[in-house]
Amino acid sequence: MASLIEAVQHGADPSELMACEVPESYRAVYLRREDEPLFRDTPRQDKDVRRTLHVGEVPMPELAPDEVLVAVMASAVNYNTVWSAMYEPISTFRFLKQFGRQDRWTARHDRDYQVVGSDAAGVVVRVGSAVRHWTPGDHVVVNPPYIDEQDPVSQRDGMMTNGMLAWGFETNFGAFGDFAVVRGTQLVPKPPHLSWEEAACNTLCLGTAYRMLISENGARIKAGDIVLIWGAAGGLGSYAVQLVRQAGGIAVGVVSSADKADLMDSLGCHLVIDRNSVGLGDRDGDDSGTVWKAMGSIIRKELGEDPHVVFEHVGKATFETSVNVVRRGGTVVTCGSSSGYQHAYDNRYLWMKLKRIIGSHGANIDEAWEANRLMRLGMVMPALSQVYTLEEAAEATRSVQLNAHEGKVGLLNLADAEGQGVTDPGLREQVGEDRLRLFREHAAASARAGR
Ligand SMILES: NC(=O)c1ccc[n+]([C@@H]2O[C@H](COP(=O)([O-])OP(=O)(O)OC[C@H]3O[C@@H](n4cnc5c(N)ncnc54)[C@H](OP(=O)(O)O)[C@@H]3O)[C@@H](O)[C@H]2O)c1
Repeated sequence: MASLIEAVQHGADPSELMACEVPESYRAVYLRREDEPLFRDTPRQDKDVRRTLHVGEVPMPELAPDEVLVAVMASAVNYNTVWSAMYEPISTFRFLKQFGRQDRWTARHDRDYQVVGSDAAGVVVRVGSAVRHWTPGDHVVVNPPYIDEQDPVSQRDGMMTNGMLAWGFETNFGAFGDFAVVRGTQLVPKPPHLSWEEAACNTLCLGTAYRMLISENGARIKAGDIVLIWGAAGGLGSYAVQLVRQAGGIAVGVVSSADKADLMDSLGCHLVIDRNSVGLGDRDGDDSGTVWKAMGSIIRKELGEDPHVVFEHVGKATFETSVNVVRRGGTVVTCGSSSGYQHAYDNRYLWMKLKRIIGSHGANIDEAWEANRLMRLGMVMPALSQVYTLEEAAEATRSVQLNAHEGKVGLLNLADAEGQGVTDPGLREQVGEDRLRLFREHAAASARAGR
C-alpha cells in the first residue's frame, strides 16, 4: 500500500487518503530550545539564521477535534522566521511555554523543538471530529492567525481575541514540514489557477496588507489616494502596491536599488523612489530629521501633493519620515519595526496636523477570505521570485535576512517540482502567464545579468 505522502503526491482521492496510515514522524525544519543562548552576545548582523534552522524528523502530534492535518506541498519564508531563528526580540520558545499552559491540546506545542513557518499550501489529509467545513482531499492555503473563535469578540474581529497567535511563530507544527497541524478556521481554498508554490507564498503578506490598506480595520483607501509604500519590492510591499492599484490609488514605492525600481515600474507603481537618494541607505540607520524633507519634496514635485497614507513596517529608520510626509489628516498604518522598535518623531507634526497612526496585525478570517478572493479573481498576483527545496530552508531564510530577495521566497515541501497543482488551466491562461510570473522572470533576468 502507498504511503500517505505518495498518495498525496499522486493526487489520490479522499477514500485512498483515508486508507493510508498517518506516519508517526515527519521531515521538518525546526529550531531547538538548546540553541537559545547561541546568539546572546552576538550583534544582530552576525546572527546567521543558517546556524539555528535544522532539518530532521519530528514526531507527528495528535490532532485536536478542531484541527486539520495538512500535507504541505509548498510553503514560503516570512520575516517572522528570521526573528525566530535569531531568537529576537525574545525566544519563541517562551511563547510555546505560555501557550502550553492553557490545556491538554496546547500543551502539545511546548516542546524542545519548534517547527517554524507561517505560509503553506497543501492537501487536507485528516480532519478532527469537530471540523465541519473541510474534508480530506481539499486543496487549501493556510492563514496564519490562530484565533480563539469562542472568545465573543471574535464575532467582531478575530484579530482582537485574547489568545490570538501567529501559527508557526508563536505556535508549533508550522509550515516548514511535510505535514502541518492547523485549526480548521485557518484554511482558505487554494486558488485553482496557481501552482503549489505560487499559492503558498501569498497569504501572510497579502492578508496583512489587505487589512492595513483596504479593510475597515485599516486605512480604508479609496480611488485617488496617494499611498507611500516602504519596501515596495519586499514581501508586504509587493502586495501593497497591487492593492493600491486595484483600489484606484496612486502607489509611490520606495526601494533600495535600480533593479527593484524596474520591477516596481512593471508592477504598476506611479512613482518609485530609491531610498539611497534621500539618505536612507542603511537598513538600521536613524532618520536624521532631514530625510523626510527630501522625500516629501520628491513626492510633491512629481505628484503635486503629499501622500494620504503611508504603509509602514520598517520602524525606527523610517517612522519619523512617515509621520512627517503624510498629509494633514492622513494616516500612517504600521505592522512592524524591522529596523528597531523604539520610534522617535516630533509629536507636534501628528496632533497639530490631525494625523492618525493605526497599528495593524495579520488578517482576520473574513479579511483572509477577501484577500484570497482577489487572488482567485486574478486581481492580485503571487510575488514569488525564487524557489528552494525544504532542505534548503535555512539558505532561503538567510536570503530574506540579508534583504537579498524580492517579493516572496518559496519552498517546495512535498511538491517534487515547480508548476504542480494547477487545477484550472483555463483560468490561468485568462489571468496571464506573464503577469503570474512577473517576479520569477525578473529575478531570472537579474541573475542572468549578474545583478
Ligand atoms: N504584524 C504583521 O502581521 C506582519 C505581517 C508581515 C510582516 N510583518 C513585519 O513587517 C516587516 C517587513 O516584512 P516583509 O515580509 O515585507 O519583509 P521583507 O520581504 O524583508 O521586506 C522588507 C522591505 O523593507 C525594506 N527595508 C529594509 N530595511 C529598510 C530601511 N532601513 N529603510 C527602508 N526600507 C527598508 C527593504 O526594501 P528596500 O531595501 O528595497 O528598501 C525590504 O524589501 C518585518 O519586520 C515583518 O516581521 C508584520
